[in-house]
Amino acid sequence: MNVDVAFTPPAAAPADRTCIVIDVLRATSVIAVLMHRGIRRIYPTATVEQARQLRAKIASDGTDVFLLGEEGGLPPEGFDAGNSPTALEQLPITAQLAVQATTNGTPALLACDGAPLVLAAAPLNAAAVIQLTLKAGHDVLIVCAGLRGAFAEDDTIAAGLFVERLVLAGAHPSDAASEALLRYESARDHLADALRDTEHGRITVELGFDADIELCATPDRFTRVAVLRHHNGHPALEPHNSV
Ligand code: MLT
Repeated sequence: MNVDVAFTPPAAAPADRTCIVIDVLRATSVIAVLMHRGIRRIYPTATVEQARQLRAKIASDGTDVFLLGEEGGLPPEGFDAGNSPTALEQLPITAQLAVQATTNGTPALLACDGAPLVLAAAPLNAAAVIQLTLKAGHDVLIVCAGLRGAFAEDDTIAAGLFVERLVLAGAHPSDAASEALLRYESARDHLADALRDTEHGRITVELGFDADIELCATPDRFTRVAVLRHHNGHPALEPHNSV
């Protein structure tokens, strides 16, 4: 098995590789929290407006749908919640379905739609993601959501955690994967601080979400993985239980 890292989302979904998609601050960490909380399906959308429209469509027959995400890090108007994993751990949620729109994370997931296996991954559910990836047996592309289409240090560090575990399981790293691994190795012992000390980390702290960084830096807290499938013609993340 080979493991490569894309520092920004691919232009086209790889036809023959598992995609491990990471937006550690905070979209895929939020997805790990929601899966743990028992949400049955999350529809990721590319824009806030698409999320509003999809929620209206699904809710038109009375179905309870939770609308969450962010614009500039904060909840868009009319949304039920923002994109804070610590808030979403506590918030009462009655719906079993959710629609999520974020700046980088949900578009990155959608960019991989079409690959044989697409997993929403975060340190929070790393062990379960690795287990599922090894079971699938394909070569692996770890996709960093990045920041507005550019390289993001926070996602690269988190990608290195996955590279380390895949290499320990026998995978061969590309140069990009080795680079992510180096960055993770120098951050491993102070992961939350290392994430804080990135461009996205600083923005997250400035917006008042420091506690989110602590949670997002916690490996292996949850054992459920969101797998990208389709439901009624829409890309949809559904839980796969592992470990
Ligand atoms: C994103 O998709 O850009 C992030 O998840 C934004 C955030 O919640 O800070």
